[in-house]
Amino acid sequence: MIAELTHRCPLQCPYCSNPLDLLKAADEKPTDFWAALITEAAQLGVLQIHFSGGEPTARRDLPALIAHATALGIYTNLITSAVLLDEAKLGELARAGLAHVQISIQGANAESADRIGNYRNGHEKKLAIARLVPALGMSLTINAVVHRQNLHELPEMIELAASLGADRLEIAHVQYHGWALRNRAALMPTREALRQADAVVAEQREKRRGSMAIDYVIPDYYADTPKICMGGWGQKLLIVAPDGRVLPCHAAETIPHLAFQHAGAHPLREIWETGPAFTAFRGTGWMREPCASCAFKELDFGGCRCQALALSGDARATDPACHRAPDHENLQHIAADEAGSGITSFHYRRYAHS
Ligand code: FES
Repeated sequence: MIAELTHRCPLQCPYCSNPLDLLKAADEKPTDFWAALITEAAQLGVLQIHFSGGEPTARRDLPALIAHATALGIYTNLITSAVLLDEAKLGELARAGLAHVQISIQGANAESADRIGNYRNGHEKKLAIARLVPALGMSLTINAVVHRQNLHELPEMIELAASLGADRLEIAHVQYHGWALRNRAALMPTREALRQADAVVAEQREKRRGSMAIDYVIPDYYADTPKICMGGWGQKLLIVAPDGRVLPCHAAETIPHLAFQHAGAHPLREIWETGPAFTAFRGTGWMREPCASCAFKELDFGGCRCQALALSGDARATDPACHRAPDHENLQHIAADEAGSGITSFHYRRYAHS
């Protein structure tokens, strides 16, 4: 379960994955709501809770929620920018039972990273907190989001993650949904840069085998087959928005006909098993051709529904990342055009202005 405690965030990343309409602090659910939900999640069989946002450390009740989940035997992960943390706060989270911390970096050095996140001194703060994570007995994942304006820093980012003591590095090319779509022309890498990045990752995976795992997510615009988005719609993950709505995917709200239920108003088990949003694209029954007869349909489960909607105008369409999709060639033309656009300025994501 991904618990999006808040949409508040001090960073202004141009590829922000939160919805276009951000919820205000007044819309956020209180501590007792989240505690009851965590209890329900444990009863449902949820094994891991990822406390996320926005910036989840903006919530003062985070230590209490982590302690509650830990007491119920749930593995806890904090997905954070780390810029609001200090040693005392991180120590409090560790004592509450936090098992794992996932810190995002925007680049390999302060100049580049602080420009991309539009947050002064953010990079140095992140590194200081990241160094403390293993020292406090927690596992560390560094999450490096890459794109045209920082892809050349990839070898340094990998070196940086290793030097921080990360157990795992997740290198994720920007996925162009929501806010990131507005910045696509400033972020899209060239095919050649992507090829070079692929080679760097392959070499570094070999070199770091046994010391740091490297996950790698390529941009769909250059793929030939779709990725299994969210581990398959309604199969592994549920996401709870700050206002208590339960979603199968963080971008599911972009699909207009879906109806989302609120935790608290319906039992979590009912929402997961029979809720209309979760059953809409679960499994393979919803598929049309060419997906319905595809040999890979139970491997990728149709790829990404949000991307199908964003790029083809129909959430049931074949994911345009697939070479069998009618829009596939168009996707590759868009990528080539935008990678060569020369645009470098960003539309920053400002919480205060949303
Ligand atoms: Fe929603 Fe892929 S982002 S299914």
